[in-house]
Amino acid sequence: MNASIQQRTIRPLTSRLGCIVKAFLRQPGQVATVAPSSSHLINAIACRDCVRQASTVVELGPGAGGTTDGLLSNMRLDSTLLAIEKTQAFDESLGQILDPRLRVEYADAMRLLDFLQEHNLGLVDVVVSGIPFSSMPRLIAKRITQSIHKALHPGGTFIAYQLHDDVERYTRPLFGPSKTDRVLWNLPPLTVYSWTKIQ
Ligand SMILES: C[S@@+](CC[C@H](N)C(=O)[O-])C[C@H]1O[C@@H](n2cnc3c(N)ncnc32)[C@H](O)[C@@H]1O
Repeated sequence: MNASIQQRTIRPLTSRLGCIVKAFLRQPGQVATVAPSSSHLINAIACRDCVRQASTVVELGPGAGGTTDGLLSNMRLDSTLLAIEKTQAFDESLGQILDPRLRVEYADAMRLLDFLQEHNLGLVDVVVSGIPFSSMPRLIAKRITQSIHKALHPGGTFIAYQLHDDVERYTRPLFGPSKTDRVLWNLPPLTVYSWTKIQ
């Protein structure tokens, strides 16, 4: 077993805080949070059978990488995690994750399908997203959710953790109704939505 995978742990919240505050002060609308994800939120996203069984997972908006650590801790040793982050300032924190399963692209989530092709990943099992669908233009939010739907295998799972429920406006025509899980022990409290791609 690769040593960097064997030693995989979730880094302490304080190690991600400075990087998030700096990025938030520069681009508040895009970064959308000033506090690192709590362990409760990370577990609600990553401790799922679909993540444990996945061959390929995509994460949109990994930020400082708390959720990324959680996903890698639960994913198979032979799996791949492609993370797409728009805020370049997070490279300081994401660059600390030395795990051969992780590939990071600093770009807009709009380019999801291009990156799947570039990385020869084909269709994926799970997409996790923390990008703020409520504060982006509607046309962009619609295009990103359409790309997520296209990127998933039938039976694949889309998980989005959000402050507001706008995401449902875009996902409902594609995926149908969501399952929701409210996470109160996070700053701010958030809802984790999930959908399964039927066809
Ligand atoms: C709620 S934060 C993520 C929190 C992070 N996962 C954690 O564990 O702390 C949302 C992230 O989405 C990123 N983001 C916002 N819009 C984006 C877009 N269009 N494409 C890619 N990333 C985006 C932000 O830069 C930010 O890092």
